[in-house]
Amino acid sequence: QRAKMIVDKDFIIGQVDDRIYGSFIEHLGRAVYGGIYEEGHPDADEQGFRKDVLELVKGLQVPIVRYPGGNFVSGYNWEDGVGPVADRPRRLELAWRTIEPNWIGFNEFMDWCGKAGTEAMMAVNLGTRGIDDARNLVEYSNHASGSYWSDLRRSHGYETPHAVKTWCLGNEMDGPWQIGSKTAVEYGRLASEAGKTMRLVDPGIELVACGSSSRTMSTFPEWEATVLDLTYDTVDYLSIHQYFGNQKGDAKNFLAQSVGMDQFIHTVISTADYVQAKKRSKKKIHLSFDEWNVWFHSHDHDRKLDPWSIAPPQLEDVYTHEDALVVGCMLISLLKRADRVKMACMAQLVNVIAPIMTRNGGPAWKQTIYYPYMHASVFGRGQVLVPLIQSPKYDSADFTDVPYVESVAVYNEEKSEVTVFAVNRSLEEAIPFEIDLRSFGAASIVEHIVLENDDLLATNMEHRPDQVQPHADGRSTMDSSGKLESILNKASWNVIRLK
Ligand code: AHR
Repeated sequence: QRAKMIVDKDFIIGQVDDRIYGSFIEHLGRAVYGGIYEEGHPDADEQGFRKDVLELVKGLQVPIVRYPGGNFVSGYNWEDGVGPVADRPRRLELAWRTIEPNWIGFNEFMDWCGKAGTEAMMAVNLGTRGIDDARNLVEYSNHASGSYWSDLRRSHGYETPHAVKTWCLGNEMDGPWQIGSKTAVEYGRLASEAGKTMRLVDPGIELVACGSSSRTMSTFPEWEATVLDLTYDTVDYLSIHQYFGNQKGDAKNFLAQSVGMDQFIHTVISTADYVQAKKRSKKKIHLSFDEWNVWFHSHDHDRKLDPWSIAPPQLEDVYTHEDALVVGCMLISLLKRADRVKMACMAQLVNVIAPIMTRNGGPAWKQTIYYPYMHASVFGRGQVLVPLIQSPKYDSADFTDVPYVESVAVYNEEKSEVTVFAVNRSLEEAIPFEIDLRSFGAASIVEHIVLENDDLLATNMEHRPDQVQPHADGRSTMDSSGKLESILNKASWNVIRLK
């Protein structure tokens, strides 16, 4: 069995918007308390932010981080999290049934973003709240001075506006689990009016409307059509979310799930373009895939947790090698639609379904999924080339004709580098992969990084944090005509860098 790909530097899908390598911090579990922040930790800085976590976040070169939720935002009063910490209320947090102490809020998060070298994607509460609170938050955040909310921010010690550009109009409003969930018409009208009013405060902001919480929602894709019909002129992006799991222990089918992600993206783009045609509009709506990941390992544990504690260990999936391959495939899915997917957030960043894990008072380490995310973020910037691929295929429980080899190439003109990302989904065989790069002339191989493991279920834990980690001994050769021949080992994630 062999696979083949042809790419040409003049045939481009689109420029990668760096924000597709975004992530997400929600007030949930130990993402904030015990994750990015832990007062008294030996590695905490003067504000209580964990420097060991900051270093790992910087390694991912995360350009944007969504905050403060997630389901959390739909019951959150942002005012609870600003001003003197001693005066902030403790609240019942109803989305995850914990106590929210409000030790960290908007301003501290913005400080953390500065330290992490990232920017914020803020979400407003359209569950229990609405237009008024949303516009107040934009004024608090972005208005310079001379008004009630901007002067309140200044009185809290933040003279300079935060200048947050990207704003999500609520979270998963189609989901019955969401506090204040809505029908598409109810949500579309509210999002349109809230967005319009927020933009009156700051015309420079970008707005993201909620799309479907997953492609299995019964309202998908009618939700998208209705919401866009009501918000088309106001919003810039439509958000979509998708998590995959291997509940049935069927690795072949699990590895095939990104085919469903491709279909999901395709359908949402088609729906957005249908609304564009209907409106005779010149404007294109782009996608913000602002929650994506593997999530299923922690479900049973989470069902047994007692409510009303501060920062309990919730959604703490311990990721396997197999999960890292699925994450690699999902990253390739995002890249393949770089023309329309302009933002994406791996959900989430620390402890909660995350590439980075910590122990309270202890160390921080990289989960298996850290690696494909890091490789794509660090090396996958530039222009995505149209991949013409031939691959042997297989059928799985959910999909037919699943290519064993999933691949895409990114050309970074500035650095004169081409990077090929490839996953071999075969659990049995290495697959020779021929890549025709003739349009690049005499490129040479910089390195061929491989993430592989004999045990699909291998994990990284505190006491053995390096069980799954990449090596750079991949087998690739380049001939004088610009043909690259690589061996993709079974069940592997590959990063082949050429210059
Ligand atoms: O990321 C975890 C949760 O998944 C988020 O709070 C919610 O938006 C989604 O259902």
